[in-house]
Amino acid sequence: MSKPLRIAMAGLGTVGGGVAGLLLNADGELAERASRRLELVAVSARDRAKARAADVSRLEWHDDAVTLAACDADVVVELIGGAEGPARALVEAALKSGKHVVTANKALLAHHGAALAALAEESGVALKFEAAAAGGIPIVKALRESLIAYGIDAVRGILNGTCNYILTQMEATGRSFAAVLAEAQKLGFAEADPALDIGGGDTAHKLALLSSLAFGIVPSLDAIKTEGIAHITPEDIAFAREFGYRIKLLGMARRTPSGLDQRVQPAMVRAGTPLGDVEGVFNAVLADAGAAGPFFFEGRGAGEAPTASAVVSDLVDIARGAVGAAFGRPAARLKTLSGAPPARVSPYYLRFNVLDVPGVLAEIAGRLAEAAVSIESMIQRGRSPGEPVSIVMITHECSESDVARALKVIAGSDKVLAEPCMIPMEAG
Ligand SMILES: NC(=O)c1ccc[n+]([C@@H]2O[C@H](COP(=O)([O-])OP(=O)(O)OC[C@H]3O[C@@H](n4cnc5c(N)ncnc54)[C@H](OP(=O)(O)O)[C@@H]3O)[C@@H](O)[C@H]2O)c1
Repeated sequence: MSKPLRIAMAGLGTVGGGVAGLLLNADGELAERASRRLELVAVSARDRAKARAADVSRLEWHDDAVTLAACDADVVVELIGGAEGPARALVEAALKSGKHVVTANKALLAHHGAALAALAEESGVALKFEAAAAGGIPIVKALRESLIAYGIDAVRGILNGTCNYILTQMEATGRSFAAVLAEAQKLGFAEADPALDIGGGDTAHKLALLSSLAFGIVPSLDAIKTEGIAHITPEDIAFAREFGYRIKLLGMARRTPSGLDQRVQPAMVRAGTPLGDVEGVFNAVLADAGAAGPFFFEGRGAGEAPTASAVVSDLVDIARGAVGAAFGRPAARLKTLSGAPPARVSPYYLRFNVLDVPGVLAEIAGRLAEAAVSIESMIQRGRSPGEPVSIVMITHECSESDVARALKVIAGSDKVLAEPCMIPMEAG
């Protein structure tokens, strides 16, 4: 067996603790698969005195994570997090000093992925990030290495377990977004500051990486239209169910005749389809791989064991000598996309909160017709003259920009009490 792969790791939290446990307690099986031992030699975290999931007391300790880049190791594993600060400084220093890097840090790569990939190439080392998108699901490797013969037409995924948990619970219990979020925070399924999750930012980070791998573009948030789930109401979820759909926060990137459409958006996904049936904290990705067909991946997108599993798979790849381009193509060949994505064309679910007064329905229908948006079906439940009611419409396939134009006018009506809700409908 060749000499061990020496590993230095920054971050001993949820993911780092799991990786340390796996490496320190590894039996011969992992070494056999990697053709060499994976040896954790040095670690860094903020607080040396903190109790850790694995016993790291005999390892070299670094108070300053960035100094790991200069220690006697072959690979630096960055599990601190954050697009800037010590995570970025460490990854840059490690790559410059000729060390392979493994990271789970989607924020860092979504902002600086192309520059870091270029640094890795200059130094002839690997930059690997299987854990950064969809946690334990091996989608990075699949898009980088496996689904390449026919090209990718579309990648769509449920990439944030917190959002999927909240939406699943809202559907199961009929409770409001705020009530379910508060419970998710208590149970540890949502962060104390949930903004990045529920605002769609975390999904956008992951989508930027998947898009780069699938379509050969520079990872970037600039061309991803991002919307969160905070405006979704139990009423929307109940209506979705009536129409045979479920509401999911999707990260989507697909080729269209007008260019690559990248967006993070709540969407109505047909129940009974692979994406429509993904429950709770699970993640899933549907990749349309040209003539090879669609491929569906589902699994745990977060948590100690799934994420540590993905980090260790990157380490095994490096131990075996796999040093390919980080995003599957030379960094200099990645194309830069900018500007808003093309307007989406799909059927839309529209909900209007209106005063139940004569003429309101005709007014809404008229405004939609003026914008070339035609209605396939409509529901108005109950009658309460002079009181607020909801009107729900499903449109035929139409352009997002036409719908948005009509809704802007409709929102200005004195009979309309709140910003209309607009959710695209996915076939499956
Ligand atoms: N948690 C998941 O399920 C998951 C899934 C996929 C990807 N990720 C990504 O994995 C990374 C780590 O996430 P996590 O959940 O493991 O985070 P975490 O539990 O908050 O752990 C962060 C670790 O980084 C250490 N740290 C913070 N600042 C540091 C500094 N300046 N120098 C050295 N160490 C420092 C902390 O030290 P102390 O322990 O001493 O405070 C802690 O051990 C992030 O990029 C995250 O996005 C996480």
